[in-house]
Amino acid sequence: MTTRPGLVSWHELRLQLSAVLPDENRSLGIPPACYADDELLALEQNAVFHHGWVGLGRADRWADTGDYSAIDIGGVPLIVMRSKSGALKVFANSCRHRGSQLLSGDGNCKKIKCPFHWWTYDLDGRLKVYPRMENAVDFDPDKFGLVEFAVAVEHGFVFTSFEDQPPAIAEWLGDFDRFHQPWGINHWKTTRVREFEVDCNWKTFIEVFNEYYHLPMVHPESINWLYPEPDAVDAVSGQYATQFGATEGAAALMQDTQQYALPTARGLQGREARGTRYTWIYPNLTFALSQDSMWMYQAFPLSANRCRAIQTICFPTESVALDDFSERAEYYYQRIDAALDEDLPFLLRQQLGLNSKFALQGRFGALEPSVGKFAYWYSQQMLKQLSLT
Ligand code: FES
Ligand SMILES: [Fe+2]
Repeated sequence: MTTRPGLVSWHELRLQLSAVLPDENRSLGIPPACYADDELLALEQNAVFHHGWVGLGRADRWADTGDYSAIDIGGVPLIVMRSKSGALKVFANSCRHRGSQLLSGDGNCKKIKCPFHWWTYDLDGRLKVYPRMENAVDFDPDKFGLVEFAVAVEHGFVFTSFEDQPPAIAEWLGDFDRFHQPWGINHWKTTRVREFEVDCNWKTFIEVFNEYYHLPMVHPESINWLYPEPDAVDAVSGQYATQFGATEGAAALMQDTQQYALPTARGLQGREARGTRYTWIYPNLTFALSQDSMWMYQAFPLSANRCRAIQTICFPTESVALDDFSERAEYYYQRIDAALDEDLPFLLRQQLGLNSKFALQGRFGALEPSVGKFAYWYSQQMLKQLSLT
């Protein structure tokens, strides 16, 4: 039997990653070490979070001037902020004095004031207040603004990149428009955001959301009935995977609460008015887009076997304006949370198995093509990074 030591050798890792193929029906899965080995985290962070674009959430989460969230992406603490000009900004959450984290959690502020020695920045990241710096020779505060990263907003999703010259977002997303345009989600409203931590690798958290395989086993009573066999996975040109499936009724409601279904989004027709598109924008943003609602998850690594997840739920603007929206939306929240609660114990068990040094690469079933597509993308990014190290 092939075994791996606590830390897989670079040579072995290369071989394993090379066995992940573009055709998921012939491919092995992502090497288990990539889910369990903290020694590989730095490589992974460079490979998949520090290149290209990373999804930060929905733009309307930061609707008003001064709204902010502190988010850690692949070991880089960030501030997402709605600036005075109305543009979204992404800053390094590191004070330019001696590096303190500036903000934590979510909130609204008029300026960014470091709690340590009170260096204070405006909402565009310019250093404005710097107590007792009169002795610093040739100190130019204009050179000590916050480090700022590129931002792109597409279909209401916010992306950032750590690259000085990132690829054009249109190039990154390829033909994403073609599959998502009909819903008009750039105008949908976020009505609830929840954050929590889970004892599993960030990839397993996103993977389970993108496969139908586990539905009869993990969700037999709750949501399995909603989902007949989905369409084939779509062939796409961007850095994402997507698969559409017709559903019985509203996919985001349980069987016994279907009477609370909100209206179908304006403009949706044909099969798209009666189904759900599951999309995974690499590396770590995924969403389900139904005729009446969207629920989205992002997962960020805290360690190899622990992640921070953000759950976001959105509805068409016309639905949010209905008098009884709040009451009806509760049933959506309950269904989405219930499905997650059913997944969580399985994710913890999966992580326990992946932690073993005897865990080996598996194969993909017919109902998890998006997981296979991601595995190939991920393995290619890791191999590219390995060739640079
Ligand atoms: S570290 Fe921020 S003001 Fe000193
Ligand atoms: Fe599930």
